[in-house]
Amino acid sequence: MCGIIGYTGKGNAQKIMLDALELLEYRGYDSAGIALLKEGQTQIVKRAGRVKDLRNLCAEVKPEGTCGIGHTRWATHGGVCDENAHPHRFGRITLIHNGIIENYRELTEKYALEGALVSETDSEVVAAVLEHFYAGDPYSAIRRTVLKLKGTFALAIMFDDQPDKIYAVRNVSPIVAAVTKDGAVLSSDVAAIVPFTADYFVMPEFHVVCLSPGGVEMFDLSGDKAPIDWQKVDWDVSRGGKGGYPFYMEKEIMEQPQVIRETILPRIKDGRPDFTAEGIPDEILAACKRICVIACGTAMHAGLVGKSLIQAMIGIHVDVVMASEFMYNDPVVDKDTLVIAISQSGETIDTLEALKFARKCGSPSISIVNVKGASIARASEHVIYTCAGPEIAVASTKAYTTQLAVLYLITARMAVARGLWSGEKVTEFIEELQRVPQVMERVLEDKEEIHRLAGTILNARDVFMIGRGLDYSILLEGSLKLKEVSYIHSEAYASGELKHGTIALITEDTPVIAVVTQDKLKSKELSNIREVQSRGARVVLLIKEHETMDEGGEWSCVYRLPQMADAFMVMPASVVLQLIAYFVSLDKGLDVDKPRNLAKVVTVE
Ligand code: AGP
Repeated sequence: MCGIIGYTGKGNAQKIMLDALELLEYRGYDSAGIALLKEGQTQIVKRAGRVKDLRNLCAEVKPEGTCGIGHTRWATHGGVCDENAHPHRFGRITLIHNGIIENYRELTEKYALEGALVSETDSEVVAAVLEHFYAGDPYSAIRRTVLKLKGTFALAIMFDDQPDKIYAVRNVSPIVAAVTKDGAVLSSDVAAIVPFTADYFVMPEFHVVCLSPGGVEMFDLSGDKAPIDWQKVDWDVSRGGKGGYPFYMEKEIMEQPQVIRETILPRIKDGRPDFTAEGIPDEILAACKRICVIACGTAMHAGLVGKSLIQAMIGIHVDVVMASEFMYNDPVVDKDTLVIAISQSGETIDTLEALKFARKCGSPSISIVNVKGASIARASEHVIYTCAGPEIAVASTKAYTTQLAVLYLITARMAVARGLWSGEKVTEFIEELQRVPQVMERVLEDKEEIHRLAGTILNARDVFMIGRGLDYSILLEGSLKLKEVSYIHSEAYASGELKHGTIALITEDTPVIAVVTQDKLKSKELSNIREVQSRGARVVLLIKEHETMDEGGEWSCVYRLPQMADAFMVMPASVVLQLIAYFVSLDKGLDVDKPRNLAKVVTVE
């Protein structure tokens, strides 16, 4: 949460900061600010609101300089107001912070800061402690300050008397840095680096990086120069921007066929799933006695689909645990438990901490991550990258379906590694997986028909989504999507559970979205749909094309999903649910890409 940017060089730092903050805004958008350092003078411009509001303010104030730091905030400590916006300044120190300083109250007391602080933030306390230790040597002040901090932090710091220099240090919260043609830049993620260069590095924890117009240097905390591990951005930069769509969410939904191809094709060799490039040995897939998936939100919903697949096809037990609850439920994981951590950003703190815990317990681990070099990828024994490319909309879409694609590959490789499937069965499964992109393309061609379906729930206050088995798993995700972008209260319910209480809420004002894609569950699911229809509910039904509905009766809205093997029907059905959520949000005139109260990357527990 929170996006940070730092730049020093020959360019117009105000413009560079504002452009970068726009690219980082999906990380938090309560308030924004910049600070520019020029000839020993630091000028701060900040305010509650969006980056566009900050841009307007900058147009009035006209801050100048070629060295600056900028921040877009998701509030943790202290409300949303101008004072709490970053950068924070204390004495000769100006800084921006992403993370949480847990011991800020103790520090306030220890350094007698009460009354001297102007904001309610934990971040300002760090600036004050740095000022306390600063006697002309930034490295020494940073080292001494960092040793006092408890919590997570990515800090970019300017010292009034260190012209054109930006210092950075981090624990857990990410920072990437790069050299530009006329200086150097750092950021929370590569989104803001890409306009400058394709070469960057991920700052290691507890190292100090110094950016100057001459480039970048890095030192460890004992003051020794540290080598930099350079990486290349492998995104297709030309795919940046909204590509003509009004919102990133729509663009990202439309990209799914392509990014699924890019995720699966390099991992299929001679018609079989192959993780040689990832260095994942078959033993890890063959030897485990159970699997534990840890993830949050949408990524966890992908895990639920993985659970159904693996239990049904491999016959081993899979737990899917919300990473935010993992540590508090006395987790039982050991060397026989394969831990699969799923995360788009690779930075979700709960998932990261749960993964670290599982590794301490001796569990082998694979992470499924979208962002190269992210913390979860680095903390994991093995990593499989989804090739979704940058996902900017806060609501995850293409990351989810590429996570699913990887879970299909893992299931198939596991079956091969355990000698469970005949060659024919492997071929059949992989061929079906390779058909997913074209099937999704067919659904996407029906965008306008799905837009009309979305119209049937536009004015609803509550929506229920019902299904069983795999259908229920994808509805959990469909329901989350609808809630987060449309603010309609929606609940996914296992349709067999309705009669145990919830059906009391069904009235003619409660639209129900039902998904029926599993042959073995069809007749039970259709009966459950009849039950809600009898209570007056209008039902939007997603069902396979060519499926008969012998029961007769009225169907106000039906969408026919292109046919795939049952295990793969989640793919086309998910696209329909994403589009429904998107169109409801669009037609309500909401800020689809930046729903209220949310942020794309959740780096606080
Ligand atoms: C999805 O639409 C979300 N906004 C959210 O649930 C997200 O999936 C979750 O925060 C996990 O993020 P991660 O994949 O980056 O770990």
